[in-house]
Amino acid sequence: MAADLIACLPGDGIGPEVLEQAVRVLGQLPIDAKVVQLPFGGAAIDEHGDPLPAQTLAACREARAVLLGAVGGPRWDGSAVRPEAGLLGLRKELDVYANLRPATRGAIDLLIVRELVGGLYFGARGVREDGTVFDTLEYHPTEIERVVRRGFELAASRRGSLVSVDKANVLDTSRLWRRIVETVAPEFPQVELRHALVDSFAMELVSSPERIDVAVSENMFGDILSDVAAAVTGGLGVAASASLGDRGPGIFEPVHGSAPDIAGTGRANPTAMLRSVALMLEHSFGRSDLAAQVTAAVESALVTHPTPDLGGTATTATFGDAVLSSLAGQPAGKEDAWTPALN
Ligand code: NAD
Ligand code: IPM
Ligand code: MN
Repeated sequence: MAADLIACLPGDGIGPEVLEQAVRVLGQLPIDAKVVQLPFGGAAIDEHGDPLPAQTLAACREARAVLLGAVGGPRWDGSAVRPEAGLLGLRKELDVYANLRPATRGAIDLLIVRELVGGLYFGARGVREDGTVFDTLEYHPTEIERVVRRGFELAASRRGSLVSVDKANVLDTSRLWRRIVETVAPEFPQVELRHALVDSFAMELVSSPERIDVAVSENMFGDILSDVAAAVTGGLGVAASASLGDRGPGIFEPVHGSAPDIAGTGRANPTAMLRSVALMLEHSFGRSDLAAQVTAAVESALVTHPTPDLGGTATTATFGDAVLSSLAGQPAGKEDAWTPALN
């Protein structure tokens, strides 16, 4: 049988820097998978005039999984087509409607399940004659039902508690969301369900995150809440995600972006990317054993080789070295001093 394909999309800014560490780690794992790198995001706009070139999309469809760095940057701010459009297009094309964003640290072990291919990001938009610009938030009941069911399933497989996050005191889409959650709930009697309004839930994420097990929400709320969850568990440098549909490849990517402020300095923390590799091993390869090994190696590197975002001095590459040594069962060597590049 042909080896499985892992489609690697480095993208922009720190995307290629953190993905490089993921590829190194994959090279050390006993999985029969071929890694292919494909143009994506701003880099693909520069090269092909398209953030999601047809060859990239075709390879992603063929792949067992997609590993993605990050896209975007000030360089493309004025461009007619933005790098982010490639990311949204890829998610939509692969119909990865459930975006799992775990956040763990100490007593905190929560999972945000974010609807990923609907809502405000994909609704009708435009400009009216008087200069008004609009985006619209729409959800079809089936789009809500499938992600909500995924939220219940995940809660059932964890601590059995689900909070559905909405703005039902204001928005019709949220009232529909809440109704659908209530209709799915009887299928999961073992799950304790509650509803929360997004503003107070944002406060809860900061003030008592250890009480949260699984939270499910629409696309835009989930985007914002997952950065908050990252902030209370070590920051964007450590927050990973898995985007899953019903069939076909999943997309595994950090929650963070291209971090233009640190790109090219060796300061990017590859933890979020490497934890995304662990999610890929678990969800796309059914190898929770290897996922656990990668996770443990990353945990060990976080202690011995913290990166600057965590108060340390390890570089992206020396962190990667530490993960590789730990995976190989060798003690990690002392980190090198970081010498900034001259250009
Ligand atoms: P960002 O996530 O890129 O950066 C926010 C802050 O977190 C910055 O100070 C950055 O240095 C820091 N940070 C992020 N990742 C880090 C890491 N691995 N290690 C250490 N520090 C890290 O968000 P932004 O600055 O608001 O956005 C920059 C660009 O990224 C924008 O073009 C945005 O659209 C894009 N973006 C892309 C994705 C994606 O590809 N999935 C996600 C978010 C933002
Ligand atoms: C994320 C990012 C993206 C999103 C952007 C870059 C389109 O912020 O993955 O969280 O909003 O989904
Ligand atoms: Mn985001």
